[in-house]
Order: sequence, then structure tokens, then C-alpha cells
Amino acid sequence: MRASTFLISFTMNILAIETSCDETAISIVAVSGENKEKVSFDILSDVVLSQAQLHAEYGGVFPSLAKREHGLNLVPVLKKALEQGFEISNFQFSTPKHFSNETIFKLKTVLGKNPELLEQFLEEIPNIAKPNIDAIAITNGPGLEPALWVGVSFAKALSIAWDIPLIPVNHMSGHIFSAFMDEKKFTITNFKNKSASEEYFPVVSLLVSGGHTELVVIKDWLEYKKIGKTRDDAVGEAFDKVARILGLPYPGGPEISKLASQFEALGGKASKLELPSPMINSDDYDFSFSGLKTAVLYMVKKLGELSQTQKVEIAHAFQEAAIEVLVKKTVLASEQYGAKIATLGGGVAANSALRDKLASKLKEQLSDTTFKIPNLKYTGDNASMIAVAGYFTYAKNGFVKDPLEIKADGGLSL
Ligand code: KG4
Ligand code: ZN
Repeated sequence: MRASTFLISFTMNILAIETSCDETAISIVAVSGENKEKVSFDILSDVVLSQAQLHAEYGGVFPSLAKREHGLNLVPVLKKALEQGFEISNFQFSTPKHFSNETIFKLKTVLGKNPELLEQFLEEIPNIAKPNIDAIAITNGPGLEPALWVGVSFAKALSIAWDIPLIPVNHMSGHIFSAFMDEKKFTITNFKNKSASEEYFPVVSLLVSGGHTELVVIKDWLEYKKIGKTRDDAVGEAFDKVARILGLPYPGGPEISKLASQFEALGGKASKLELPSPMINSDDYDFSFSGLKTAVLYMVKKLGELSQTQKVEIAHAFQEAAIEVLVKKTVLASEQYGAKIATLGGGVAANSALRDKLASKLKEQLSDTTFKIPNLKYTGDNASMIAVAGYFTYAKNGFVKDPLEIKADGGLSL
């Protein structure tokens, strides 16, 4: 890292690794700052390898398959990220290099549970010249624990091989920062300073993914207060389950969204079905989506064989009911907490009906609140958001003293 006095001006290249679910993702992000107020980010590379098609036949993510696939994919994804990030096609030494016996011993310890990854690592990484990277950010939770462990072990191995420090990052923190990632290059106001408090905080963030549905109030970066969450299924999970009921492939969110968008075009031919918007009038910021999914199931059982129009009607009614409660509670929370900015993040943030409805309700009811949403490239799981959250985690906590102590934690909370 090249920093002048008191971090007034600095640059830092962060390599980030994300394996919490069924995407193997690695990014390289250049972070720089001219002063303490603003930090600039430039995404040099962003590689995401999705396993969704492999999991499709199980109708959801199959943890041991995800673990195996991450193990097979991490080295090729790393090579691609390095090639993209540093615009060099030949970043490898031409003559084979070898690790010392001591390094090999350490690598065998951290990658012992991933024999295929260990084998690839020992074969390929010695030939890669140490890249211009100052830190490695690694998602250590929440997510599928076996999948998280592969990424954490790989990060430790790279830290050993290249002598680069590690930053453990909370995946949900990554989704929060994704809302500020509108382009390849962007700027975020730094920690507590006058302009940041005036411009940003409090932020109210709605996080909607396959594993989470949460409303979070943010007083300063990494100062999170969770004010509501789902009591059962996450909203993305409900989209996936309803898609399955309608005979659509995994992941179901984009499929439901596509079907629902045909509703208007059908005009008078499609009827408006009523489905309950669960907990819409409850006196809190919690959610529940399991009852809504069951209501769809009963409706489908009653209807028997479904026509294409009926599928459109059901997808539309389900999506409306799910979105209504998300929008209502986010607007209420933004009002109650006086949000300067309201944000959306997570896989379901790709849903255009949700993006549009939340934007229009906020504009209508809270014209002083700015609404920020991620570029569609960064709604789903990616490693660029982990690099950004990684910078702020480092700025607050520094590097971990002993990288080997980092543990994956499937239930890690914000
Ligand atoms: O954040 P993400 O990629 O992974 C997790 O951390 O869970 O979110 C994946 C979820 C899946 O449930 C998927 O069906 C949902 O996001 N999703 C969508 C859309 N695109 C992805 N849900 C609704 N509408 C979409 N367009
Ligand atoms: Zn996610």
C-alpha cells in the first residue's frame, strides 16, 4: 500500500473472493483517495462464474456440489481476474517455479480439505508472478458454510503464497455497498466526517436475496442496526419456490419476473388475482413469505393444469403481494429514521417491478430521500462489492493479525 502522511492520499489494490453460495467470484478493485472525505473505486476486473445451471436439477443450491465446484473453479477464475485486471495476457512465469517445502507444508494444512484445489494450487500458483495486490478481501459469512470454507481456505493459501494480508468481509455488508456501485468507477464518502453525515446518514437499506430479507439502518459505515427481518423464508427463496410450483427452472426470481411482466400486455385477457401481502399491517419491520408461497400452492392445486395465461396471472399476483410489503415497510422505515438515502441490495434487487415501485413511492412520499440501487451487474453475488466492503472493513479494523485464524461462519450477522 502506498500511503502518504495520515492516509491523506493513498492507493490500494484489493483482490476480493466470494464463494458464499453458487457463484465463484473474484474481482480486483483499485481504491484511492485524495483526502479523507471521499474514496474512489475503480473495478479493474470482475469475474463471476455461476453454477446455477448445475444446481437447477436439484431445484436449489446443493451445498456439497457448490463446495466441489468452487474448488474446481477458483484457480481458473483467479487467472481470468488477473488477466482482466492488469491487462496482461501473460502474467505467468515462463519457467516453472516451486514453493519451498515450508510453504508447501503450510498450504497443505490450509487446503487439506480441498484436495483438488490443493493440487491445482501447487501446480499453477507458483508460476504466477506476485501481482500488484495490497490486500485480499474474503467473504467469511453468512452463506453456505461448506462453500464459504473453500473461499476462506483459498484466500489463506494465497496470503501464504504471496505474503498478502487478509480482510474478512460480511457478505451482507457487500450487498449494502453494492447500492453505491452504479458504474465501473464510483466514489463513496468515507467514515464519519461532516459532509458524510450531511450527505448520507442515516441510510436505510433493504436487503433482499435468496437467504436474507432485512431492513437495516446505517448511522455510519459498518454501524448497522437491523430493524426487521423475515421470520421464515427470504423473499428470493419465495420467488424460487413459487417458480418451482409453476414448473419454472431455478433460479426462479428472473423467471417469475419475466412472466409477471407479460401481465400488462395481456390486457383484458388476464385477470387480477388476489394474494395476501403477509404482515403488511404488522406493527414492526419484520416480514414473512412462507404463507404467501403456501397460498400460491393451494391456488395452483385448486386450478389443476395451468394455462400460460394463468401462470402469468399467478406470477404477477405473487410478485405484487411480495413487493407491496417490501416497499411499504422500507418507505415507513425511511420516514421514521429520517433516511437521507434509501438503498436496495441483493439478488432480488434485480427485479424491475421492485426497483420501479420503491423508487416511485419514495419520490411520492419522501421527496428528500435519495434512492440508490446497484447497477444490474452488481445485484447478484459478485466479488467487487466484497472489495468495496473490504476497504471500509480495513479502514475501521485494519488487517487481521493472524490470517489463519479466520473462520467461515454460515450464520454471521451484520
Ligand atoms: O444475492 P443473491 O445472488 O444470492 C444470495 O446471497 O442469496 O440472490 C439470489 C436470489 C435468488 O433467490 C434469485 O431467484 C433472486 O435473487 N433473483 C430475483 C431476480 N433475480 C434474482 N428475484 C426476483 N426478481 C429477479 N429479477
Ligand atoms: Zn448475496
